[in-house]
Amino acid sequence: MFPRLLCVDDYEQHAKSVLPKSIYDYYRSGANDQETLADNTAAFSRWKLYPRVLRNVAKVDLSTCVLGQRVSMPICAGATAMQCMAHVDGELATVRACQTLGTGMMLSSWATSSIEEVAEACPDALRWMQLYFYKDRELTEQLVKRAEKMGYKAIFVTVDTPYLGNRFDDVRNRFKLPPQLRLKNFERNDLAFSPKQNFGDKNGLAEYVAEVIDPSISWEDITWLRGLTSLPIVAKGILRGDDAKEAIKRGVDGILVSNHGARQLDGVPATIDALPEIVEAVEGKVEVFLDGGVRKGTDILKALALGAKAVFVGRPIIWGLASQGQKGVQDVLEILKEEFRLAMALSGCQNVKVIDKTLVRKNPLAVSKI
Ligand SMILES: Cc1cc2nc3c(=O)[nH]c(=O)nc-3n(C[C@H](O)[C@H](O)[C@H](O)COP(=O)(O)O)c2cc1C
Repeated sequence: MFPRLLCVDDYEQHAKSVLPKSIYDYYRSGANDQETLADNTAAFSRWKLYPRVLRNVAKVDLSTCVLGQRVSMPICAGATAMQCMAHVDGELATVRACQTLGTGMMLSSWATSSIEEVAEACPDALRWMQLYFYKDRELTEQLVKRAEKMGYKAIFVTVDTPYLGNRFDDVRNRFKLPPQLRLKNFERNDLAFSPKQNFGDKNGLAEYVAEVIDPSISWEDITWLRGLTSLPIVAKGILRGDDAKEAIKRGVDGILVSNHGARQLDGVPATIDALPEIVEAVEGKVEVFLDGGVRKGTDILKALALGAKAVFVGRPIIWGLASQGQKGVQDVLEILKEEFRLAMALSGCQNVKVIDKTLVRKNPLAVSKI
């Protein structure tokens, strides 16, 4: 009988028991000593909730808008690469689950299902495209155009990955894709991270990035992207107020406060700790989102209280997918939704509009265990 999995951590334990070690390690790992990986989740505990009482929470409305699109809850699926390693249905299962829950999915440039396949599997689902800048600028442009054509509603441009972070497990495991898979957005073996191609005997993905991703990406390229598409653009991977301001000057429509799930530069702050500076710098001009370490309903409430419009979850989707495909992703999203609904109700919030910064305070006595 399938075990009763009650929270996201239960799903992670179950996923660990069913996935091959090198694949689980790839999904789980952070960079280097993984200080930031531990802090991304631990930091939420350092913020304490100050609930309001007696606010008639017989009805609680979780719905909101993300970049002008209605979603049933402020919880969306973040871009995680190579989902077909977790389950044969991969990204198609994720998009279907998101549609069922009434929320959106961000598709990775490095997906194992193509932009078109995901769109055709779920034409009416709210989908966004995550973009990496390739050295081949025409190829980068094509990714944007294909996403536009297939009805994706925004471009999330990842700005924290001129090189891949150093993930020890992936080096030890000599990480590469299983033989039957490739990055489906690309034809050529070298661009598709094909196992047929030789990417060295360390972390194949780091080698891939060094070969094809453009480390010379700069603010000028955000201006270039702005000129290329009329879709909303979100800068994914901002951790400083001044960078947020620059991104707005360059015409972005949103900021995703993210440290790439602690997989890039180790030693950066937990995203929940970075959020207030960015919300202040943005001055309400564009929407601010957060990802990194969101595992519980109370994490989501804290992020919204500190000014995020919505959160994205990365690994939790993978754990659901590995456990039970589409159903597993749906269950994980349902768990987060229900936990968030209860957290709102117990804090006296009837809808997301009344979630404000008076609901959270940094615990002055909290000392990081790291
Ligand atoms: C296995 C994995 C693959 C990822 N792939 C991508 C990617 O292709 N593009 C990207 O911009 N971010 C990628 N990310 C980062 C996520 O979009 C997101 O920032 C992060 O997972 C959020 O943290 P969480 O996993 O703690 O929820 C990946 C993260 C993980 C864990």
